[in-house]
Amino acid sequence: MCKVYLTFNECKVYLTLINWHASYFAIKLNCGYVQNFIWGNMIEQFFDQSSSSFTYLVSSSKHNAFIIDPVKENNEIYIEYLDQHQLNLNFILETHTHADHVTGSGALIDMFGCKTFCGMVSDNTNIETLHDGQEILLDDLSIQAIYTPGHTDDSYSYLLKSSENTYLFSGDTLLINGCGRTDFQNGDPEQLYDSITQKLFSLDADTIVFPGHDYNNATSTTIADQKETNPRLVNKSKDQFIEIMNNLNLPTPKLMDVAVPLNLKLGKE
Ligand SMILES: [Fe+2]
Repeated sequence: MCKVYLTFNECKVYLTLINWHASYFAIKLNCGYVQNFIWGNMIEQFFDQSSSSFTYLVSSSKHNAFIIDPVKENNEIYIEYLDQHQLNLNFILETHTHADHVTGSGALIDMFGCKTFCGMVSDNTNIETLHDGQEILLDDLSIQAIYTPGHTDDSYSYLLKSSENTYLFSGDTLLINGCGRTDFQNGDPEQLYDSITQKLFSLDADTIVFPGHDYNNATSTTIADQKETNPRLVNKSKDQFIEIMNNLNLPTPKLMDVAVPLNLKLGKE
């Protein structure tokens, strides 16, 4: 019989891993999205199938909440979730001005009287333009906005620290084994390389990363995993990364001409 003695820190890692598996489940619904993640009732992940976008709803222990990157077509789903869990929506975070879906921010602001934090500069009084390192508080939760340009020039990632874990909502800056494209909306591969390697990869290795999209049925990753496995970054110099990004030859997003102008007005006609 093998006996293993764990230090306190090792026990904590072990329990965290158990919690990861115990708290994961997936339900495919008929309404065009997958609601697939509950983390101690604190983080809910919604998946929009038409754009492969993730939206996150984060709630505090005092029944307050914020939403990251709401998709307009799914607003009723978020509202139903808030209602069912008796949550008040306090604010919205946008990771960037999206080209592939229309944001639900404007309609949610009208309904809840809240505001949106984002990188976009606007004279809309419902928008608060972020600065790098800005701290946003919600009860016992602290969110740090990290300016991560490169996919777009208004891209922000959000770092959320709880007593158990640190979570990064990386938008399209860092995807699971990929990253956002850099060929429109003032994208810049050199800036993206610096944002990922200098800012995001300097976070704790066990930071759990929730991306803005996934196209392969994955839901999260960690900073350590991405340092080891992301094919655009592992053993790639900045010049090699720029070469890769400048030769992706991706088609223009179908909704781009509609979504970008609407999203500059928080999705309102
Ligand atoms: Fe994007």
